[in-house]
Amino acid sequence: MDDPVTTALTNLLHRLADDHSGAVADYIPELAAVDPHSLGAAMVSVHGDLYHGGDSEIEFTIQSVSKPFVYALALSDLGLDEVTRHVGFEPSGEPFNAISLEATTGRPANPLINAGAIVTTALVTGADREEKFSRIHAILSAFAGRNLGIDETVYASESATGDRNRALAYLTLSQGVLAGPVEDVTDVYFRQCAVRVTTIDLAVMAATLANGGVNPVTAERVIDAEIARITLSVMSTCGMYDYSGEWMVQVGLPSKSGVGGGIVSALPGEFGIGVFSPRLDPRGNSVRGKAALAEMSQRFGLHVFTAPTGHRSPIAGSHIDNKVLTVQLQGEIDFVSAERIVRHLQEMAATYPITRIDLDLTHVTTVRTSGSELLTATFTDLRARQIAVHATSPDPSPLLELAGESRVDSG
Ligand code: DON
Repeated sequence: MDDPVTTALTNLLHRLADDHSGAVADYIPELAAVDPHSLGAAMVSVHGDLYHGGDSEIEFTIQSVSKPFVYALALSDLGLDEVTRHVGFEPSGEPFNAISLEATTGRPANPLINAGAIVTTALVTGADREEKFSRIHAILSAFAGRNLGIDETVYASESATGDRNRALAYLTLSQGVLAGPVEDVTDVYFRQCAVRVTTIDLAVMAATLANGGVNPVTAERVIDAEIARITLSVMSTCGMYDYSGEWMVQVGLPSKSGVGGGIVSALPGEFGIGVFSPRLDPRGNSVRGKAALAEMSQRFGLHVFTAPTGHRSPIAGSHIDNKVLTVQLQGEIDFVSAERIVRHLQEMAATYPITRIDLDLTHVTTVRTSGSELLTATFTDLRARQIAVHATSPDPSPLLELAGESRVDSG
């Protein structure tokens, strides 16, 4: 029997089955050969659990969905400052194939339209086109958690007809922002676009971004957490081209579409999603893919800016016994939860004649610097008021900073 998430996903796809609007891309001739009826979706949680329905295991070419992942690789290779000398991170509000260069710098403003993506591909470290592509292929595979194939027919078809992209590359070359010969760079870019994926691959790739750069299925760290954050930020402002603003308002998920019919979306800290349906709207975004994501966002409540209510409290329990306040903490101690803890300790110290606080950290998973700074300042303040603070934890390793500061009074 299906689990309820799979059932909800399958029902949602059924409701879209009769929408035959849009048209498959044919400016790359081989893309017109795909089955236009396909429709699939997959979700992967940051815990690595997979749900999928419809044509979720059909392979299609990744196309522009590759762009944020290659951007992440360029950031890993060169860092944000150097990448930003060549390509910006502003939504250009223009179509994916626009001739779009900033008047002042000559850079493409947007790394997720073709001009910016071609410049980004050129930045990937590698002695020649083979090495650059093999590093791109390796990271796309690491994001997906399996060795991805390449559609040689679609690659050859785009290479034979991709003169607009070559023209974009020449323009960036003339501006001094393209780091490599046009033929080499566009060849790598065409290959990157011809990598074959399923919606399940896309969901795992997005879940890796949503999980701070660690693939939740393979447990491999693919990119740094900070690069995952930058990549998701750029997807949220630039990922749907000249539809990115409306997309963020209506659907509210950092996303990237491709003319192969795929769309990838991520809900940070929660889920990665991949959808596929080849018929596109005039902007090059999958018609039913967009509809599926819009409905998922609404039905499952996934909009990234929905303010959470009833935040899980970092305080699992608190009691006073003989002037000793014992507080059980739980979960991740970041700035937000530390603020709750600090308020609680201050209120208790102001209300009751306590002489000592015991913090039970058994169920604390992580202490972030932002959280420990607030707590240690509070401990100093409490100590000045003759209140001892102790921390207990069976495994102090992730909590050294906090426990170390609080091991002040052993009495
Ligand atoms: O460069 C191109 O035109 C294609 N290889 C990729 C474009 C694309 O996927 C735009 N997406 N919606």
